[in-house]
Amino acid sequence: MRKPKIIRMFFALCLGCFVMVIFYFNSNLKPAPEHFGEESNGQKPRRSPLQSLYNSDQAESEVQAIHQGRRELLEEACRTYTRKRRVLIPEDLKHVIVDDLHGLLYCYVPKVACTNWKRVLMVLTGAAGSHRDPLGIPANEAHVSGNLRTLSEYSTSQINHRLRSYLKFMFVREPFERLVSAYRNKFTQRYNTAFHKRYGTKIVRRHRPNPQPDALEKGDDVTFEEFVYYLVNPATQIEEPFNEHWERVHSLCHPCLIHYDVVGKYETLEQDSNYVLQLAGVEDQVKFPASTKSTRTTGDMAARFFLNISPFYQKKLYNLYRMDFLLFNYSLPSYLNF
Ligand SMILES: *[C@@H]1O[C@H](CO)[C@@H](O)[C@H](O)[C@H]1NC(C)=O
Repeated sequence: MRKPKIIRMFFALCLGCFVMVIFYFNSNLKPAPEHFGEESNGQKPRRSPLQSLYNSDQAESEVQAIHQGRRELLEEACRTYTRKRRVLIPEDLKHVIVDDLHGLLYCYVPKVACTNWKRVLMVLTGAAGSHRDPLGIPANEAHVSGNLRTLSEYSTSQINHRLRSYLKFMFVREPFERLVSAYRNKFTQRYNTAFHKRYGTKIVRRHRPNPQPDALEKGDDVTFEEFVYYLVNPATQIEEPFNEHWERVHSLCHPCLIHYDVVGKYETLEQDSNYVLQLAGVEDQVKFPASTKSTRTTGDMAARFFLNISPFYQKKLYNLYRMDFLLFNYSLPSYLNF
């Protein structure tokens, strides 16, 4: 049975109105994330950080050459050492912090100055309230989830848009120095009782012969050797993923799936951080907190901790962190003897 013509015309008219309403709203709600800072007090449009990096009209500087070298080495290592490529899923993007105001994506790696980078991004995104000095933000405040947005919270099309047009950066560190730093911070500091309970008790139970009842209960005296046994035991990762403090950068930031524009290094933290802030055009607005630690001492420190580790376990541990050594051009530490 056919509907009378007049009714069909009425429906057509309604549909037309609806479509017009959508067009009207779209024209009003046009987001302009590619035009960073354009609307600010009538100044000429500023280039996005990504444009600053790749469309630079000045002659190539030494620092640009260093970063290009790192990108090429990473790409080559990905081609050589990763077997098949897979598709990126939102779950992979939980460590990627978004700054929509400046067009930045930062993948945070614990034990590689991530507290200071989160503080800087809180200042830049306005999440820091009135704080202009990153060090004015308490460290625990910087790690509150919800202060900063991660890329995994966005829709697929928003994710793709940001991956294409934002400057993507991360910071890495010599893998064993990072590991020793994580061990010292989480297992030798008296105040880190949450880690002692959650991981320490388990490590003592599984990897210490004849443990004392007190150690079993508190888990606060795990040795580096026991920590290494825990890491290289295949059962550990079958049970649950590594904690982010000792998870490999390769698994946290997916550098073979996401093409990072800047790979900063802890060893040259200040220079590399300033380079990112300069590309973002915010070097006058925020200062990256100067480090008080010398990287020389962290290298010697790692060597001391490895004295107790047998060549067999050194080799197992190296194999575990091998991708982080290869992708970021870290050579085999000279103190190893396998
Ligand atoms: C890789 O490391 C070696 C040795 O430290 C260094 O000479 C070289 O310049 C590095 N390559 C890149 C692309 O950073």
